[in-house]
Amino acid sequence: MKKYIILTFLIVLGVLAGCGKKEETSKEDAYVRNLINVGFSQLGAESDWRVANTESMKNSLSLDNDFNLLFDDAQQKQDKQIMAIRKFIQQEVDCIVLAPVTETGWDTVLKEAKDAKIPVIITDRMVDVEDDSLYTAWVGSDFLKEGKIACEWLKRYAEVEGLEPSELHIVDIQGTLGATSQIGRTNALSEAAKENGWDLLDAVPADYAQTKAKEVMQQLLKKHSNINVVYCENDNEAIGAIEAIEEAGKTVGNDINNGDILVISFDAAHSGLSNVLEGKIALDVECNPLQGDEVAWIIKDVNAGKTVEKYTYVEESVFSTYDKIKAVIADKEAYDVTILTQEILDGRKY
Ligand code: AHR
Repeated sequence: MKKYIILTFLIVLGVLAGCGKKEETSKEDAYVRNLINVGFSQLGAESDWRVANTESMKNSLSLDNDFNLLFDDAQQKQDKQIMAIRKFIQQEVDCIVLAPVTETGWDTVLKEAKDAKIPVIITDRMVDVEDDSLYTAWVGSDFLKEGKIACEWLKRYAEVEGLEPSELHIVDIQGTLGATSQIGRTNALSEAAKENGWDLLDAVPADYAQTKAKEVMQQLLKKHSNINVVYCENDNEAIGAIEAIEEAGKTVGNDINNGDILVISFDAAHSGLSNVLEGKIALDVECNPLQGDEVAWIIKDVNAGKTVEKYTYVEESVFSTYDKIKAVIADKEAYDVTILTQEILDGRKY
């Protein structure tokens, strides 16, 4: 920790000297001495959600908030995340934050962090490890619940529109295989399809990326002539799929009975919600990327020797412009579907 304190102290002194504001020096000195050194291994920058998540973490784990953040973008590669964690261990950081690309394969490196007595906070997706004492806490979304909410809405949509379950011809454009968000959302759909008798035609991964999703959708349209529901596991995939559908001369919207392809999405980022408002995405289940503050509070508590909650779920909503369904039920909880307006969209910062 000492070497970071000294380094950061010198940088801050340099900046302040450059600004010539001598009176701020002592104020800055005070907090520089108490900085918490955090190494954050972010899995990549594949989506609007991810960019917002990175920004949230950087804003919360900031110098102003008494953190010295070491950031690493692993470009979707688990081996790069493992290398970054090993480097953070060598650098003797006070805490490691990990947003894991997939669930498995973390036991060894997390054991190394534990042996070095460095607490690890997992964020966004989960890790599947033998010993859950290898991480101190987790902050993220209930991805299975998100998927169940979407499927419950789809079930009601079919009822309201007078469609038989077997008349729903669905394709699933999946996220990164093995990621908790993919596993939860995919499982929710396959279970609901089995339970309700829906025609689940195909499930193909597109790594949460727009261009890949467009290519996947082009292939799916060639392979299946009767698709009327596309379940996209994030907004960027939905936007790519919509492009492919429209280029194929088909329409997206809320009206399957009149030939629309119904698009369901997750994230509710600005880009997704714009498409909801335009009527191109029928339902967008929010996945909240603003996890930085929660992570920062946990780190401060851990650093102060306090016991923290092991699992923290972030709050999420559901958006649509289809006003014939008021609420969706998942896990016995009711969620009001927010009928999206321009005002709500304008308030969306990411
Ligand atoms: O794990 C969360 C998912 O990862 C988000 O839904 C997606 O946009 C992101 O890339």
